[in-house]
Amino acid sequence: MCDVVALTPRELVPISSCVLLPDRPLGIDVYLIKAIDSKPVLFCSRDQTLSEAKLDTVAQRLPGRLYVRCSDADRLQAYIREHWSDILRDDSRPLEDRTRLMCNVMRDVLADAFASRNIQRIAATADFLAAESTRLLQDAPVAIGELSKIMQHDFATFTHSTNVALYSLRLAQELGFSTDEQQCIVRGALLHDVGKLEITENILSKPDRLTQEELRQIRQHPTTGLEQLVDQALTFGELMIVYQHHERIDGSGYPVGSVGEEIHPFARLCAITDVYEALTAHRPYRRALRAKAAMHVLQRKEGVHFDREMLACWKGLVEV
Ligand SMILES: [Fe+2]
Repeated sequence: MCDVVALTPRELVPISSCVLLPDRPLGIDVYLIKAIDSKPVLFCSRDQTLSEAKLDTVAQRLPGRLYVRCSDADRLQAYIREHWSDILRDDSRPLEDRTRLMCNVMRDVLADAFASRNIQRIAATADFLAAESTRLLQDAPVAIGELSKIMQHDFATFTHSTNVALYSLRLAQELGFSTDEQQCIVRGALLHDVGKLEITENILSKPDRLTQEELRQIRQHPTTGLEQLVDQALTFGELMIVYQHHERIDGSGYPVGSVGEEIHPFARLCAITDVYEALTAHRPYRRALRAKAAMHVLQRKEGVHFDREMLACWKGLVEV
């Protein structure tokens, strides 16, 4: 099973073991790269199945080492759609378990899509994740505190985007947006920082003051994201989340300095969940704030940076 194969790392894309299910034929060859300088070996061929024990071992001992061929990326997406939809819709499993599973799968699947740098694949992934998460939480909204407990709170863009999307879904539900609008908001939130994929990690996690050039690059990410996504099948509201999520009610935001209702309601909503998530996540240069402290920071900018009504609604959700 573990034959060395004549593939270069460039022909492979990383996948998370979390998305592979035990005892089901994969239909895709899965490769393992044990160490940075080792050659890929065939880990599981397309007609074989993996046991739960083997998947657990890989998840614990070799995280981030599984790959599929770039040419199989679409087949992998189809596999995830087919199998995960069944599990997430299985009412015999407790909702809490399915929510936890969904959170992990969203994060990992989005990470894989971001790693591919293929904007079409990223947009298609966001579409699938938005549909599944909206459906799962439609009839049984989960408390923000519970969601926060099952989320990871690291600095990775895919973690941040997943958390912002789920927080945004809850806020959208509470504000009375329709199911279609909720789905658009989740899709836009998953994609809101896609322009950051062009910025180096050194700048994104820099603990010191940013130089003018670094600041310019950071402030460019909403425009870059819009340019990347404009040809994809997204609605105007979704694109406005990407383009306007750093705008502020008083016009002090970027990239344009739009004020009040010039900012799309979806973007005003995501501006709140974006900052809340960032404050409650661990950063390389500071510890995460607790919910109450983060709310305090947001409330100081009520009606200045953030939409007053939406922030009041978010406060109600966080303080339940
Ligand atoms: Fe952003």
